[in-house]
Amino acid sequence: MSDPGDSIPSAQLPISASAPGKCIVFGEHAVVHGGPELLFAIDLRSQVILQAADGSSLNGDRTASRTHPYFGRALAEIPPPGGGVSVTSVSRVPRSSGLGSSAAFVAALAAGLSAIRGGADRPTLAQRAFSIEQGAQGVGSPGDTSAAVAGGFLALNTARGTPLWEVSDGSRSWSVRRVVDPHWTWIVADSGIPRRTADAVKAVAERMQRPDGPALLDRFRSVAERGIDSVGREDRGETGRCLRENQELLRDAGVSHDRLEALLDAARPSSDGEKLTGAGRGGSIVALPKPGRELETARKIARAGGVPFVVRPADDGARLL
Ligand code: MEV
Repeated sequence: MSDPGDSIPSAQLPISASAPGKCIVFGEHAVVHGGPELLFAIDLRSQVILQAADGSSLNGDRTASRTHPYFGRALAEIPPPGGGVSVTSVSRVPRSSGLGSSAAFVAALAAGLSAIRGGADRPTLAQRAFSIEQGAQGVGSPGDTSAAVAGGFLALNTARGTPLWEVSDGSRSWSVRRVVDPHWTWIVADSGIPRRTADAVKAVAERMQRPDGPALLDRFRSVAERGIDSVGREDRGETGRCLRENQELLRDAGVSHDRLEALLDAARPSSDGEKLTGAGRGGSIVALPKPGRELETARKIARAGGVPFVVRPADDGARLL
């Protein structure tokens, strides 16, 4: 497990670093407005290789510091000493799928750049990775980047668990805590419908401005609190009910999609609960399959057109290789 005391050490180029994607169990969108969230790092990772170079480039593209917002922000936040850095990136996290591909890229790159600048402790790395991602996206919470930095199971904005760090965007802050992994097997499945996180976050923010917005946000908070509590008690039945209630709220918030609903329908008969995960409007679902029915659930989702991954929480956060 990557905890606050476990720093990214100082290192010299060439450096290779990696970080995991994530799966949100409860509380996406509401977390942007200060609500509780539960998520875990998944065992699909992004890797970057940093080498000394005269000018900076990403996968051979020398314009990337201007055209690739995450790369440009990372270089501005943690400038490489000397002339620049050539970065090669490879990822097993499907892109634009709600599984944290940009957070994994940003956390791995921030770890590599921090290493050449003398190293960093994890709270600093978590803050840097969030500042880069939020700077590039314009909106968002530090859930995804904290999972990529810390690994394991995390909860935001709740009193449960052990404090890891606070992350701020200058005007608001989020508390990030380590919570216990119940050691269940989960399935995430990509619908193949790409979506932009920032568009979905802005649409939900507008939805929250409607007269019933504050009541909807309260329901998001309450189901996430109950869900976090039920995972802590290893109560699968209640966790499953909370997953389904959270999905109803996400539907009400306008971020479900017909393709996601088809995947949820396919997963339901052999699962304790299921919902979309991440920003929605496309992207992925998460299901908690009944024990022993993991492959059956994955097959049914695949027949309904999804790309399923049987995932376990990944202990390791961002690290040098
Ligand atoms: C995206 O993975 C999760 C959202 O809550 C946005 C965020 O927290 O940054 C939709």
